[in-house]
Amino acid sequence: MKFRTRAIHVGNEHDPATGAVVPPVHLASTFVQPGAGQWGEFDYSRSGNPTRKNLERTLASLEGGCGALAFSSGMAATHCATMLLQAGDHILAGSDIYGGTYRLFHKIVNRAGIQVSLAPSHDPAKFEAAIRPNTRLIWIETPGNPLLTITDIAACAEIARRHGALLGVDSTFATPVLTRPLERGADLVMHSATKYLGGHSDVLGGALIVRDQDLYRRLYFIQNATGATLSAFDSFLVSRGLKTLTLRVLEQSRTAARLAEFLGGDPRVRCVRYPGLSDHPGHATAADQMDGGFGAMLSFEIHGDFARTKRVAQATRIFQLAVSLGAVESLIEQPASMSHASYDAADRAAHGISDGLIRLSVGLEDFDDLRDDLDRALDA
Ligand SMILES: Cc1ncc(COP(=O)(O)O)c(C=O)c1O
Repeated sequence: MKFRTRAIHVGNEHDPATGAVVPPVHLASTFVQPGAGQWGEFDYSRSGNPTRKNLERTLASLEGGCGALAFSSGMAATHCATMLLQAGDHILAGSDIYGGTYRLFHKIVNRAGIQVSLAPSHDPAKFEAAIRPNTRLIWIETPGNPLLTITDIAACAEIARRHGALLGVDSTFATPVLTRPLERGADLVMHSATKYLGGHSDVLGGALIVRDQDLYRRLYFIQNATGATLSAFDSFLVSRGLKTLTLRVLEQSRTAARLAEFLGGDPRVRCVRYPGLSDHPGHATAADQMDGGFGAMLSFEIHGDFARTKRVAQATRIFQLAVSLGAVESLIEQPASMSHASYDAADRAAHGISDGLIRLSVGLEDFDDLRDDLDRALDA
């Protein structure tokens, strides 16, 4: 089956007991066992739940993995991946990563004696130079949040292989519609399912997808032992969202590309960061590793300081001022005061997240309305 068919049918087989076209949501927390000490496929919902399992099957199929694990949030999924490491190990992360991931790595994971450093993953030579003998996990985001840098996944997979580290890719912005990192040599893919996978701003979730059974077993053990699993009802919501993922992502990407063109030609805008623009430094890599579009996230800088940027971000009427992304409704935010406020100010400046930066998550509204909304706001 092709991708779009799998998004609708894998993990969504009709219910043999009733013929229901949509499988029932299994809310049970515990399951009757055939005998004391005998275990069926399901025994307790933290260890496994039929509705969560269905979602995990869909996710594994879409990413081309051997298995997937669904978590209560994207951060829980990333945290699980870091728990593969132990004291004395090192994580090398790209410098263009979500603020919450930065906070997790620098303020929680480091407490376990794990070292963390950042380097520009979109520059493979500089990135490799930052590898240490104890680097066990390389963590990248592509496109990166919030600067929309593009990292060459295959090049990072090579680096990881050479140095005996795992490569984890936060593919939240790209979704499996546009990029499938496991096909390019990554060891694990992470998603904030809160974003495009759910797609409607009504569920919080995360996922890890892997292509190696042994890695799956190790992550499953950690997830079951630590417990941040996705609830049955939330699993159902993400499964429902996945059925329209392809249509949403392609259409939202088309609108984003048109908005990037519009902003790029506007003298009130200093620069636009969108990988679909031919002058984006990562455009060639993006064209190679993204199929069908360049995503529906873009950011741009305006002339002016922190206060003026805030005014512009607050002046739209259709774009709603909110963190998060990937849903049918368009959102606008100022990374320096919102999604990336958890970066240390010095790191924010060092990595180019300026006070004049505005990030857009482009939804499914009409292009004309979105363009006019930005046009008005830029005069604020
Ligand atoms: C790229 C990226 N990764 C991870 C996360 C964290 O996901 P969650 O909010 O579901 O924990 C986010 C959330 O904004 C994100 O944008």
